[in-house]
Formats: sequence, C-alpha cells, structure tokens
Amino acid sequence: MKKVMVVFGTRPEAIKMCPVVLALKKRKKLDVVVCVSGQHREMLSQVLDVFGVVPDYNLDIMKEKQDLFHITSEILLRFKDVLQKEKPDLILVHGDTSTTFVSALSAFYLQIPVGHVEAGLRTNDIYSPFPEEFNRRGVSIISRLNFAPTKLSRENLLKENVDPKTIFVTGNTAIDALKVTVKKDFDSDYLRWVGDSKLILLTAHRRENLGKPLENIFEAVNELTRRYPDIKVLYPVHMNPLIRETAAKVFKDNKQIKLIDPLEPISFHNLISKSFFVMTDSGGIQEEAPSLNKPVLVLREVTERPEGVDGGTLKLVGTNKDSILEAACDLMENRNGIFDKMSSAENPYGDGFASERIAEIVENELYR
Ligand code: UD1
Ligand code: UDP
Repeated sequence: MKKVMVVFGTRPEAIKMCPVVLALKKRKKLDVVVCVSGQHREMLSQVLDVFGVVPDYNLDIMKEKQDLFHITSEILLRFKDVLQKEKPDLILVHGDTSTTFVSALSAFYLQIPVGHVEAGLRTNDIYSPFPEEFNRRGVSIISRLNFAPTKLSRENLLKENVDPKTIFVTGNTAIDALKVTVKKDFDSDYLRWVGDSKLILLTAHRRENLGKPLENIFEAVNELTRRYPDIKVLYPVHMNPLIRETAAKVFKDNKQIKLIDPLEPISFHNLISKSFFVMTDSGGIQEEAPSLNKPVLVLREVTERPEGVDGGTLKLVGTNKDSILEAACDLMENRNGIFDKMSSAENPYGDGFASERIAEIVENELYR
C-alpha cells in the first residue's frame, strides 16, 4: 500500500487540506497519515474539530510571538524524525506558509517526493506577502506534483519552467470546504447583535501589515462607523498578540465594532454569507467571497489572486486610510452600481470537487 502524508500547520491550510484528507481516505489503495506542525494551536484545532480530522502527529511547535527562525528550525528538526519513521511515498503540502516550505524542504533533504496543493499563486514581489511569496516559489522548485487551482496559476508555473506533465488544474479546495460549512439554517448571537444594521466583516493579520498599515486600516474602519451609524463591524481578531494590542488600542470602546476571538469556520463562513461586504488582508477569504457573492476590499498592496479582481468580486485598496475609506463609501452608496457589480460576479475558483480530483491523481500517480 502506498503511503501519503498530508502536512499542514495553520488555520487556512487546515481549512483547505481537511477536504483533501477526507477525499484521500476514501481511496482504497492509499494509506493516509496526517502530520500537523502546530504552527497554530487554538486556530488549528478549531478547524480540525469541524472537519473531524484527527492528526497522527502534532509537532506542537507554536510559542507566543514566534518568529520565522523559530518556526523554521523547529519544524525542520521535528519533522525529520516523523519522516524517517513513516517513510511516506509522497508528502502533500498546501499553499505558502512556513509550515509548507519547511516541511517540503525536510522531505527534499530525505529525497521524498512532494505534492503541492494550491500551487502557482504569485505576486512576483518576493517581499509581499512576506514570507509567503518566497515559500510558495521555493516549494515549486522541488514539488513533483503541482495542483494549480486555476489556469492562471498553471501559467505562472509554466513561466518558471515547471514540467507541464506535473501540473494539474483542479480548482481550489477552499470551495470544497464551503460545501461542508455553509448552511441554510445558520443562526448566531452575532446576527442578533447586528440586528437591522449592515454587517461588515473585518480580518487582518499579514506580517507586512503589522504596525502602521494595520493602524491605518483600523482608523479607516473607525471613520466608516462614524459616517454610517447603520453599520456594525464584526472583527474576529487573529490570536497574534501584536494585532490584538493594536486592535484594542485603536477601536477602544467603539460600540459599532465588536472584537471577538477567532471563529471556527462554520460560523465564519456563514457570517461572510450574511455580511454586506468584507474587509480583509486574508488570502483564503479572497477565494471564498466570490462563491458567496460578497464584495471584498482587499487591504493589501498586491494580491496573488487576480482572478477574483478580474472577475469583479475583489477590489485591491491597499493600506492607505483615505483609499480604504473611499472604497468602503463607494460600496455603502453603491456608486456607479459598484456594490451590485461586486456582489454578482462569478466564482473563478472551481466547482467544489478539487479534493476528489487531487486524491484520484495522487493515487494514479503513485501506482503509475
Ligand atoms: C501564518 C502564516 C501566514 C498565514 C497565517 C494564517 C507564516 C510565516 N505565516 O501567519 O502565511 O496567512 O498564518 O492565519 O507561515 N497564535 C496563537 N494561537 C494560534 C495561532 C497563532 O496564539 O492558534 C499567535 C502566536 O502568538 C503566534 C502569532 O499568533 O506567535 C503569529 O502566528 P504565526 O503562525 O507565526 O503567524 P501568522 O501571522 O498566523
Ligand atoms: N477564518 C475562520 N475564522 C476566522 C477568520 C477566518 O475560519 O475567525 C477562515 C477564513 O474563512 C479562511 C481562512 O480562515 O478560510 C483564512 O485564514 P487566514 O486569513 O488566517 O489566512 P490566509 O488565508 O490569509 O493565509
């Protein structure tokens, strides 16, 4: 029996890899082992619980205010032991986190083949997002199977001379996850807090936004609530203490803004679908919002998800206070029909069967 080890460590990887784990486990000729790095702790276990995935290994590396050196060195050393014990025929990694890059590197050192889910996203700016653009490019150098979510991500890989025979366009597994989480009868106390107001969902966590950019974003949101007394902003704050401190300081006691702990994905995905629009610097939310028909103001200077911008759901607004405010006011007022356009755009990220495709390809390739 061929053995596949699925490796992930943060919330977004878990949301997009759990559907892959479940699809792999349905294949008859595969032995599936799950190893989590524990780069995230609470935010990871929230996701595992929702999908009912129980890891075989947890490297448990997280420490408060960890830096890239800690994450990298701890995973590299601890994962080596797991790989040497399990000797998988293939490891599957996802996306662009440090867990992704370092686990792929460990496998490379032991000459174990790597498959990369969500391969080929690029901003072509090595410092933005940081360090993710490097992480995903690094994995593309060594991966033997590349699961590109869209045709554009396939083209990005071809430009870097990745062998076309190793690239499979599958759709993004984020859409598969939504099939599990989004429910017609969803209810929540947060919706009662929102009442008849319009709900704006906010998230922010990118390393390159820490400090001044984050303050700009929060000040723009504060000003937005002053201009529109009929909006309520729900902000599940990332557990990073640096972000929590800034959020508490800038939002103080603004009654229109509720700061809450990170939500498990069922609540979060359903709250996206109940929102008026979303403001975020997240990657994954840029993939989810188009299929939930919600406009997204992307709080970043560049995005590796231009499909959503071209498709009309996403607007790249950067981290300047005035630009953010202006874009948000445009949506509030539906200037030039912008709200209507952004909330009726098409989802470019696939049909929700990416995980099944990936599992089938993995099985076929391992027995070829
Ligand atoms: C990581 C990824 C980023 C991804 C993000 C998703 C890297 C370098 N960055 O960034 O690509 O977009 O995850 O959220 O891989 N913390 C907790 N509990 C948790 C999770 C985090 O307390 O469950 C705190 C810790 O203090 C930690 C800090 O958050 O030091 C930051 O976490 P870390 O994984 O280093 O970076 P992220 O910004 O989450
Ligand atoms: N998400 C969640 N709970 C929250 C905020 C986000 O479940 O409180 C989900 C979101 O729907 C998406 C993923 O987490 O699937 C995105 O994670 P994040 O923004 O942390 O990372 P990124 O996608 O930017 O790497």
